[in-house]
Amino acid sequence: MNDTFLKACRGEKTDYTPIWMMRQAGRYLPEYQKVRGNVTFLELCKSPELCVEVTLQPIDILNMDAAILFSDILILMEAMGAPLDFHEGKGPVFAKTYRDQESIDSLALPDPDEETGFVMETIRLLRKELKVPLIGFAGAPFTCLTYLVEGGSSKVFWDTKKMMYTQPHLFHLLMEKITAATTIYLQAQAKAGAQALQLFDSWAGILAPCDYEKFVFPYVQRILESLRLFEIPLIYFANNGATLLEYSARSGADVVGLDWRINIRDAIYKVGKKAVQGNIDPFALLLPKDELKQRIGKLLDDARDAHGHIFNLGHGIHQFTPPEQAKYAVEFVHELSGR
Ligand code: CP3
Repeated sequence: MNDTFLKACRGEKTDYTPIWMMRQAGRYLPEYQKVRGNVTFLELCKSPELCVEVTLQPIDILNMDAAILFSDILILMEAMGAPLDFHEGKGPVFAKTYRDQESIDSLALPDPDEETGFVMETIRLLRKELKVPLIGFAGAPFTCLTYLVEGGSSKVFWDTKKMMYTQPHLFHLLMEKITAATTIYLQAQAKAGAQALQLFDSWAGILAPCDYEKFVFPYVQRILESLRLFEIPLIYFANNGATLLEYSARSGADVVGLDWRINIRDAIYKVGKKAVQGNIDPFALLLPKDELKQRIGKLLDDARDAHGHIFNLGHGIHQFTPPEQAKYAVEFVHELSGR
């Protein structure tokens, strides 16, 4: 068992810096495209055997030091009763929006082993196969809320912010519901065998820090607190979160995920005695090989005072990234940090 990733999460000394990439199982890999060619994305998410296959691809092909469960943050929203579809090129779409009391009341608290049994089955199957640690995950409540309120992806988040400012009681009601569902969902993942858990807050960075503190942070803290008893590393990734680092550091997470918009040295100084995960710009994978190597060397050097560093991209790998570039990145991280 390669436990370098888990050691780095705990701030222990490692022989080299472990690396995995957000969205490492996905469309940039021809092997993923092949599996995905026969099924829809949602069918894939609900087939444990296929999820196992695509979860293993980046481990076998690219030599990553951790695996992330193949699923999606919105699977839980569907299990709560929100009809979900993924449209080619458009991303996730909900059949309705959740902006009033009635629609929010219609959302259920699903039994994770019943409604998302396929996720737990995937975790159990993966643990039999994997030689690296398995990361489970969920969306953070605010990020999930934006999809439910907007009915899908958004750029402006008009309805989300309108609800937050004009109907805060509804906003909190929906946050409460998602928080309750996420808590039992992640607890079930830990029980099924996830060895670390990551909370993805992809849209936290659209908020003013004062609003984040009031409307989002208490829910994040509550979820992380409820997972403490499992004694596995907890990772909180607030995308575009350089202005929210003091919160991430106090969230209850063991590892603070960083996007690429901040120098990792500054971030390490701000988060104190916490491990950090990140933070190369996903598009930097397109650099010529020698420049990519230099860039990785610089990042490793900037992170040398971290209380544990897990190398990652600052956000998900882009679907048009050449797989061999991702492979070079893994090789360079292993080579340069192992010296
Ligand atoms: O990281 C991994 O390899 C594990 C799998 C994973 C997926 N989605 C698979 C996926 C994870 C961890 C996610 C998280 C997720 N999903 C987030 C948080 C991280 C982030 O990127 O900010 C969000 C916001 C979503 C919601 C979502 N799912 C969107 C907006 C989209 C459409 C955009 C896109 O990239 O296509 C998805 C679809 C999705 N999720 C795909 C994959 C591999 C592509 C689906 C396909 O095969 O067509």
